[in-house]
Order: sequence, then C-alpha cells, then structure tokens
Amino acid sequence: MRVGVIMGGVSGEREVSLKTGAEMLAALDPRRYEAVPVVIDRKEELAEKVKGLDAALLALHGAFGEDGTVQGALEALGIPYTGCGVLPSALCMDKDLSKTLLRAAGVPTPDWVVWRRPGDVREESVQELGGYPVVVKPVSGGSSIGTFIVRGAEELRAAAAEAFACGGPVMAERWIKGEEITCSVLDGRLLPVIAIRPKSSDWFDYRAKYEAGGAEELAVELPEPLAGSVERTALACWKTLRCSVYGRIDMMIAGDGTPYVLELNTLPGMTKASLLPKSAAAAGIPFPELLNRILDLSLA
Ligand code: DAL
Ligand code: MG
Repeated sequence: MRVGVIMGGVSGEREVSLKTGAEMLAALDPRRYEAVPVVIDRKEELAEKVKGLDAALLALHGAFGEDGTVQGALEALGIPYTGCGVLPSALCMDKDLSKTLLRAAGVPTPDWVVWRRPGDVREESVQELGGYPVVVKPVSGGSSIGTFIVRGAEELRAAAAEAFACGGPVMAERWIKGEEITCSVLDGRLLPVIAIRPKSSDWFDYRAKYEAGGAEELAVELPEPLAGSVERTALACWKTLRCSVYGRIDMMIAGDGTPYVLELNTLPGMTKASLLPKSAAAAGIPFPELLNRILDLSLA
C-alpha cells in the first residue's frame, strides 16, 4: 500500500509539519506500507502530488492542513486520509466556534471575546473578561504563533497587531492561573495525561514547545476527583466536536480544580518533542505502533 506522508504546507506551522512528517516517514512500518514523502509548497499542487497514492498520512498542521480544506480535497479525489474528517477539523481550527459549542455542552472554557479587525480591539472588553492578564491569539492559529500573555493596557495593541498579522480574527481570552495539562485521545479513549512545566519561558510558548529542554512534560496520574473530571471533560469535547481517530485537548487546571479547555488539536504535532507520542509511549504504544493504529482506524 502506497502511503503518502503529506507535510509542509503553507501555514505558520510549516516547519513543525516538516518535523512531524520526517518522524512519520522514519517510523512507518515497511512491512505494511510503502512510505512516500509528499512535501506541499503551494495549495494548487496538492491534487497533482497525491495522484497514485492509496492513502494519505497527514502530517500537516494549521491552515490548509488541519482545518478541513485538505480533508475536503482528499474526499473529492477519493483518497482516504488519517485523522478527523472535514467537519471536526474545521470546527476545532476555529477556537471561537469550538469554544461556543463546548460552552453550550457545559464544558468549562475560559471567557473570551473576538475582534474581527484591528479597529475592534477594545480595552473595555479586557475589563469585561476580568482584567489583565489576558491571552491574545489568532482565532485559528497553532503552536502559540502570534499568541501573547498580555499583562497591561500598554501591551494590548502591539500583541493584537501581531496576532492579526497571522491572518483572520483575533481573540482575547481570560488567562487561567494554574497547571497546564494535555489529554491525548486515541480511538475515543484517553491516553495518560501529560503535565507541562515550561522551562525556557514562563509559559508554554513556541520555544518551550519545540526547543530541546524547553519544557518538562511528564505523564502523571492525577488524583481523584480531578482525574475523573479531566477524563469526562476530554471525552465531552471529543463527542461535542465529533472528533475521531486521534487528537489532543489542551487544558488549564485552575486552583479550584476546574479543568478549563483551551483547544482541541485534530492533527497534533508528532515531532520528537511532541506530546501525543509521549502520551502514547506512556501507555505502552511505541511510535510505529501508534502510526499503525492511526492508519487502521482511519482506513477501516
Ligand atoms: N499545533 C501543534 C502542531 C500541536 O498542537 O501539537
Ligand atoms: Mg493548537
């Protein structure tokens, strides 16, 4: 079976995607698959480059990759692909829409406000969120690119301008003081939770995410009742946003033990520094076996 590892792409997460793709290529089981590297540099070349593949193993992240567009194109071309389908991919990429649906389902997510244009940025909205600090980020970004913890009015406009430069609307979200955790889900089941302690920065920004030693990331056994509440919250997100196969849900545990959902990643990073493979390894699933499972689930 010819499996194309689709990587690169045109989003700000291109470099991360190339690393995800390299890891996948190296780990694909040669007894089961003929792995074909497919590096996408422009949207227009996707159809040509996936010709003749039996399946697409998606290593793309962000816009035109994780947002349902590539999934839709592959559906039209009749090429099966890994991970979530069009609807959940599109929903999860839009943090405003996904948070709206999660809140309607009773899942805790920090208060937020959306600014469509730079002229919409208002100090009053920050006050409505409870004041500083707030997190300013693109509504449809990834890897914390264009994301800032804004601690005072003097930083607000510059942060928003950088977030707008990533494209699309921008949001300000109440900053939750607490512990960051991430919940990886495979086939509707929660893998071991990972606690994140940034080291190279004071929060889990791009450097802390991808630099060697940027953060300490350890699989943890949470105490009850927190463990149960985190699991229920993760699975409620999964169901509400119609996810399938695999994905990762990022949360902040507030001081009172409430797990606040920040976002779902439908094509989470699979680089050496990435969290879902670590979580799978903690469950006894080595990376090549994880890829076999993802392909089996996706192509079933
Ligand atoms: N957006 C990056 C790739 C992640 O969630 O791992
Ligand atoms: Mg993300």
